[in-house]
Amino acid sequence: MKVFAHRGFSGRYPENTMLAFKKAVEAGADGIELDVHLSADGEVVIIHDELVDRTTDGTGLVGSKTLAELKALDASAGFKGVYGKNEIPTLREYFEMIRDTKLETNIELKTGVDVYPGIEEKVLGLIDEFGLRDRIIISSFNHYSVMRMKALAPDMRYGFLEESWVIGMPEYAHKYGMDGVHPLFNVVDKDYMDMCHALGLAVNVWTVNTEADIRHMKELGIDISIGNFPDLARRIVG
Ligand code: G3P
Ligand code: MG
Repeated sequence: MKVFAHRGFSGRYPENTMLAFKKAVEAGADGIELDVHLSADGEVVIIHDELVDRTTDGTGLVGSKTLAELKALDASAGFKGVYGKNEIPTLREYFEMIRDTKLETNIELKTGVDVYPGIEEKVLGLIDEFGLRDRIIISSFNHYSVMRMKALAPDMRYGFLEESWVIGMPEYAHKYGMDGVHPLFNVVDKDYMDMCHALGLAVNVWTVNTEADIRHMKELGIDISIGNFPDLARRIVG
């Protein structure tokens, strides 16, 4: 089972910041999951919510602000003042950090509310500029967005995100040519695993944070466990 850090090492550092990404690497994560949106001037930025309110000292929509306006904010969220100022990173800055590592990245396209027309092309453009297609997994709750990107680059890995008890998810994901499914971890049991693996689908779950849950995912044969404490998962998984 591979260990991915959810929004970086977000259990101990401000989520989706370069600090959280660097700390995830230090903790021995195999990969990092991060969330992307587009700024008003078309830059791919890493932040979870559509609004900057929860994770920064600003207010308003990510998509209504220029990169310069976003960069002026402190994205330290609940860690304000503890680690100094932490900017909202661009996907380019993140790729510059990981380009010479073996780290894998699960890019979650946050196209569930604002579809950010053109975001798939922009994300792919950056992936290709850094030559990272083989180390990227694309996922989204917006399955149309996943399919748009898959049409642009069929040779990358793709997965549909789901957080409910949908019937037939493995067959559905297989039908649309996914490489994996990305369910909320509670949804997965042995039958679900068997169905996915019989169809050749990876099962990549989130957000697995406790020792008991990490052990349970390992026993089930999960492919990637995405969680906020990559140090804990690394210790358990070995
Ligand atoms: O990609 C897995 C997980 O991050 C999906 O939910 O809300 O944490 O982005 P969320
Ligand atoms: Mg996410």
